[in-house]
Amino acid sequence: MTLQGKRILLIISGGIAAYKSLDLIRRLRERGASVRPVMTAGAQAFVTPLAVGALAADKVFTELFSREDEQDVGHIRLARDCDLVVIAPATADLMAKMANGLADDLASTILLATDKPVLVAPAMNPKMWSHPATRRNHATLLADGIRFIGPASGEMAESGEKGEGRMAEPLEIAAAVEALLDTGPKPLTGRKAIVTSGPTHEPIDPVRYIANRSSGKQGHAIAGELAWLGADVTLVSGPVTIPDPKGVTVVRVERAEEMRDAVLAALPADIAVMVAAVADWRVASASGNKIKKKPGEAPPPLLLTENPDILKTVGHHPKRPKLVVGFAAETQDVAENGRSKLERKGADYIIANDVSPHTGIMGGDRNTVKVIGKSGDEDWPDMDKQAVAERLARLIASHFP
Ligand code: CTP
Repeated sequence: MTLQGKRILLIISGGIAAYKSLDLIRRLRERGASVRPVMTAGAQAFVTPLAVGALAADKVFTELFSREDEQDVGHIRLARDCDLVVIAPATADLMAKMANGLADDLASTILLATDKPVLVAPAMNPKMWSHPATRRNHATLLADGIRFIGPASGEMAESGEKGEGRMAEPLEIAAAVEALLDTGPKPLTGRKAIVTSGPTHEPIDPVRYIANRSSGKQGHAIAGELAWLGADVTLVSGPVTIPDPKGVTVVRVERAEEMRDAVLAALPADIAVMVAAVADWRVASASGNKIKKKPGEAPPPLLLTENPDILKTVGHHPKRPKLVVGFAAETQDVAENGRSKLERKGADYIIANDVSPHTGIMGGDRNTVKVIGKSGDEDWPDMDKQAVAERLARLIASHFP
């Protein structure tokens, strides 16, 4: 009875996956939780409140402006009198409302009013999941601290289309609920972590710079996950356009030298995760004024000089954190290059990935990594960067029993 005494508010929105919510209710209750269901109008087109109420052994809430319900419990109390809000299935529409703070029915009003953690199990057509609007909403919700489980890849029940969008299985959702409601001490409480993320910009002159394709998505997700596990996180970020992760201290820098200074200033720490795509070189003497074209003259040569290697500095520092993790962006010989970086930079792990253009990893939402440790390699399957972050944060936490 891992969820004994826990109160879960389960919001069911419209989609064929709503039938799986019936099983989810059963799974949550057999673990000892009580489940109070809320159904959107769409959900009621797929499963009946009668079936949901019978399995939950509770009243089903459906109306925002029901006098009876408001007198009975009220939407604000519904939103607060629980330990966790779970949305399964969550439609693209409900995610969009949440991301924008809309509150035009009972479910969305609860989501705006709640002060409890929220776990979302999306279910939608793969094209809807990959649509830029849903991508934006997903990123916003992640930045707001909303937790996600799934969606999984597979065949859609209605259309037979393949791709990401299937709701996670009830057992996986129940496991995610258990992990979220784990009231034991967080494994990284009292630990300090430094994470670097994003690209660096190395000026050529006041208007031009050398940069790379890093988005910061992976590093930011890792910083957020370490904070979620209780660590006190300093995120040293190069120029990115994504939101700050929740619960971390962000130090913004532009150049590699600034990044190194910020990282060293944040020592001592227990954990360092160097994810940034630091430019290896900078312009030897960046011009203080804009370099002008001069008729008849050859283009100016760019003389480069090496930047400090931040990971290597930290990996061999007198105040070296107990656990040092680096990344290795490679386009060939991923394993060999990764392993030699492990040695050279004094890291405990190198997370190596193939960033060849065809992989879409650099700047994209997904990542396929090889985890190179002192005692061997492990290939992780293709997953989104958030999932890589969760798994890596758990691996890191396992070093701090
Ligand atoms: N790194 C760093 N400082 C640098 C260069 C890299 O801290 N000046 C870190 C990165 O954050 C990453 C790791 O070193 O964790 C490997 O980065 P990568 O770009 O893959 O390797 P490089 O050291 O640049 O080596 P190469 O260019 O030979 O691949």
